[in-house]
Amino acid sequence: MSHGNEHEPCEPTLDACALQDRRDFMRHGLMAVGALIAMGAVPERLAALERTLATGRRVGNELRYPVPTADGATIDRANNLIIARFNGEAIAFVLECPHRGENVRWQANNNRFFCPKHESTFEPNGARIQGKAERGMDRYAIRREGDELVVTTTEKVRSTNAEAWAAAKVSL
Ligand code: FES
Repeated sequence: MSHGNEHEPCEPTLDACALQDRRDFMRHGLMAVGALIAMGAVPERLAALERTLATGRRVGNELRYPVPTADGATIDRANNLIIARFNGEAIAFVLECPHRGENVRWQANNNRFFCPKHESTFEPNGARIQGKAERGMDRYAIRREGDELVVTTTEKVRSTNAEAWAAAKVSL
């Protein structure tokens, strides 16, 4: 699994860093934090960056996450998974691009997911916009139990299975 283009721009004032990898975090994130310390704005920004380090709590074939409190995308690199919240819905995406498996990133400034390998782009709900990927981002089945999202990781749900893909989300 490649980490792709390490120079994909990080938007230091936006939530785009939420899907940058750890090296981008170290290179760009710490500079941003330094600037924010000077501005007295550290807590909120740090909270956004820390979302890149989320790791689901595994119970059997399921992963459990706290329900996100705000719109955005959170990466769980250990489990190759993205938890996204948009427009009152939560979706669990497979981190790898449906084309050739490069890690997809969230670009908050463009309000889309982006694959740096061959520049495929996807809507916040994972629907394909353009590029070499021939389908939308793969999803996992997801449900809500109290304050947690429960993701079933045994089977990837492809957008070519339109009915199952559409059902792989939860209203918040
Ligand atoms: S691997 Fe993502 S577009 Fe090719």
